[in-house]
Amino acid sequence: MADTLTVTDNRTGKTYELPIQDGTVRAMDLRKIKTGPDDFGLMTYDPAYMNTANCRSAITYIDGDKGILLYRGYPIEQLAEHSDYLETAYLLLFGELPTAAQRQAWNRDITNHTMLHENVKTFMQGFQYDAHPMGIFLSTVGALSTFNRDAKQIFDQKARSLQIRRLIAKVPTIAAYAYRHSIGRPYNQPDNELSFSGNFLNLLFKMTELKYQPNPVLSRALDVLFILHADHEQNCSTATMRNIGSSHVDPYSALAGAAAALYGPLHGGANEAVLRMLTEIGSVAKVPEFIKKVKSGTDGQSRLMGFGHRVYKSYDPRAKVIKKIADLVFAVTGKNPLLDIALELERIALQDDYFVSRKLYPNVDFYSGLIYQAMGFPMEMFPVLFAIPRTAGWLAQWEEMLLDSEQKIARPRQIYTGAPARDYVSQETRG
Ligand code: CMC
Repeated sequence: MADTLTVTDNRTGKTYELPIQDGTVRAMDLRKIKTGPDDFGLMTYDPAYMNTANCRSAITYIDGDKGILLYRGYPIEQLAEHSDYLETAYLLLFGELPTAAQRQAWNRDITNHTMLHENVKTFMQGFQYDAHPMGIFLSTVGALSTFNRDAKQIFDQKARSLQIRRLIAKVPTIAAYAYRHSIGRPYNQPDNELSFSGNFLNLLFKMTELKYQPNPVLSRALDVLFILHADHEQNCSTATMRNIGSSHVDPYSALAGAAAALYGPLHGGANEAVLRMLTEIGSVAKVPEFIKKVKSGTDGQSRLMGFGHRVYKSYDPRAKVIKKIADLVFAVTGKNPLLDIALELERIALQDDYFVSRKLYPNVDFYSGLIYQAMGFPMEMFPVLFAIPRTAGWLAQWEEMLLDSEQKIARPRQIYTGAPARDYVSQETRG
């Protein structure tokens, strides 16, 4: 059987044969389907990219029906158990797990770039005391483009790899300073003897002690959360990173845009929204009433935050790992009192036909906020905690896009629905 699609245009009676490759037809192949020489040709209409692949990617694989997530072929569960965030970042960027020597060099490179220019700190001090840390984070990442003039040399492999290392190393420092700024505490210096997540905890929480000693359970839990959030193929913020990057702007500017996309409550802001929702519900007894409101869309409550996913139509594999980590974290911090409400919400929703028939299951954000809160993070920091590890994924996808000879500047088409061409009407004669 031929790998083609035969299409008959009933407007003209003409038949076309379109090649099928990797389960797709090329939208540009439709352009030749015309009613006449003046016709532009057929386009596809796909708001929100529900059924459009816009790239070839070898980085992350998701099977949404089976609940499978692989980074460069490795199951997320295995990486969460055996790897650490920096090694996973290396895997995403370079395609293979590092050798011992490569890993050592990579960890050293990242550690060497954790500090911020003093002027970046001054820049951050300009924000209002109550500024949202995610707003501070994305603005500061964008501002970094003005501190690294070689950032524009995106087709110079050496310069590009330097920016990648700088960004992965500096995002925890920016994130921690955004937090310290919001609580009026001085910025801590990075501690290069600590692990990536241990140093992040040091940047956030060190007070007057000479050496900050991160709790190993909390540090490992954070590292696993970072692994789980490191990439997720063509989600909203990654597509944004690729779109902005396709204009050949520097990676700091592109990453600021990706972080802005992540800020929204339907994406990286969801775990913050989950906690607000659980706090609003207030008690296990009120869960059924809340579910009722969600189903009927009353009181402006139409979504169960932390549930549902564009790609997963079964249990998000990341949520399964997070549920296990939650127990380890709560053993150290004490149980988050909102956990019982979350468990009851999940129990009821997974039995309710509304959620079952729409294949709505807990996603990565349903339990992550509970862990972050128990570890002492304020809710405003949740999207920032997502942005730190996703930086590795954004950069891997950005570089893949730049080196893909099929890619050009992203520029969708539209269906124009406005007024036809008309003459300008002077102010006096307007009705
Ligand atoms: N609660 C209640 N109903 C929902 C939910 C939800 N969380 N999510 C989807 N639905 C319903 C929706 O109303 C629709 O019903 P109907 O067919 O009757 O109109 C149906 O399910 C399909 O929803 P959709 O809006 O077409 O699905 P989508 O693929 O466009 O949206 C989503 C995906 C993640 C934006 C959505 O499920 C949602 O808003 N979830 C809550 C926010 C959330 O948890 N986001 C984090 C996503 S995971 C982390 C990340 O990748 O950033």
